[in-house]
Amino acid sequence: MTNVAVVGTQWGDEGKGKVVDLYAEDADVIVRFQGGNNAGHTLVVKGVQTILHLIPSGILHDHKTCIIGNGVVVDPAVMKQEIENLEKRALFPEHTRLFVSEKAHLIMPYHRRLDVAREARKSDRKIGTTGRGIGLAYEDKVARVGIRFCDLLDETTFMEKLRDNIEEKNFYLTRRFEEAPLDAQQIFDEYRGYAEYLKPFVADTSLIIAQEMRRGKKILFEGAQGCHLDIDHGTYPYVTSSNTVAGNASCGSGVGPRAIDRVVGICKAYTTRVGEGPFVTELTDAVGEHMQTVGQEFGATTGRKRRCGWLDMVLVRQAVRVCGISGIAVTKLDVLTGLEKLKICVGYRTAAGEEYTESVPANLKALAGCQPVYQELDGWTEDIRHANQIDDLPKNTRKYIERLEILSDAPLMLVSVGAGRESTIVLKNPFGD
Ligand code: IMP
Repeated sequence: MTNVAVVGTQWGDEGKGKVVDLYAEDADVIVRFQGGNNAGHTLVVKGVQTILHLIPSGILHDHKTCIIGNGVVVDPAVMKQEIENLEKRALFPEHTRLFVSEKAHLIMPYHRRLDVAREARKSDRKIGTTGRGIGLAYEDKVARVGIRFCDLLDETTFMEKLRDNIEEKNFYLTRRFEEAPLDAQQIFDEYRGYAEYLKPFVADTSLIIAQEMRRGKKILFEGAQGCHLDIDHGTYPYVTSSNTVAGNASCGSGVGPRAIDRVVGICKAYTTRVGEGPFVTELTDAVGEHMQTVGQEFGATTGRKRRCGWLDMVLVRQAVRVCGISGIAVTKLDVLTGLEKLKICVGYRTAAGEEYTESVPANLKALAGCQPVYQELDGWTEDIRHANQIDDLPKNTRKYIERLEILSDAPLMLVSVGAGRESTIVLKNPFGD
């Protein structure tokens, strides 16, 4: 049986939610393996919009197993709220099961407080985080002081770990950031409530996935954020705190690397970025504004306006290489409708005259000084939102995606021309032969 990982090739917000939701129909198990509620996957099913931050997008389908893997950092309040919201709107199907790894680390109130305080203190050097405590939770995980779900379920261990943490975190909060301290007992009481509510969902998810694989079930690994927000391979330090590349589908869910047969890279037809950091193809003119308004480029988590720019194939080519992408899904192609000329960035030129065509300079100063090298194409004006096959697309639209396919060096699997499931051209099913 084929198992598939879906990852973003840019800086997140590529429209992964819609593609994962579509592929989830063919999968039996859907696994999130990194990030936390910094992600926001917007799904439109039968005209109804649902935004999920933590729970895998596959949850809207019946008879699925949805897993929040060990590599995810979980804010239990958000998890509880998402489950309650889905139940309230009758969107949690009867035969769908949800599990969270007993090894997943918890986001604690001090993570959120310190995330926000630190960013405020940095002012002009801030990362522009989502303020959800993601980075702080991963810091504690690596520092071996994090609290996991298995600890939450054991009252004594939870209190011990909480006390140790509170002692240190309150020192930072009060002395470094001049903020009010947190109260361990209050957090303990609040988190006991989450423990009670979430206990039935906590499991050894690595084992569940292995058992499902043995039964011949198909697994879909759902990435969050994008390749260039990866802690190792992204535009450091303007990145998130987890590995967003496909390789982490293995570590973050507890399966061997050979379990991942195919990797689909999601590539928006233009580029966006939320938060700070260099952005070579950024547009601050009317074209950028067109992308922002037509594409409704607001962060699904923070509501911030996304910065917009031309399609950057240097980013995409690096993502294809680093993630081992076997096929590309192009999204939001309809947003480009009406633009007279379109540009695709095929290289960067540094101030020193060096050219980069398939890798992003690691040195941030060099990257910030890069100029884009563009290829120009003619745009189209026809409404493409009802296209069901490539031949339905205008000639210039076809030329644009053909260029994208050639430059990415990976075959096109899917083209999305609108928000709904029906506005999709499927060229190849990743679960097929
Ligand atoms: P953090 O993940 O909240 O620590 O934020 C670090 C950086 O990653 C910031 O620039 C965020 O805007 C960005 N980021 C985090 N999650 C997402 C996402 O889901 N989409 C786009 N950008 C994100």
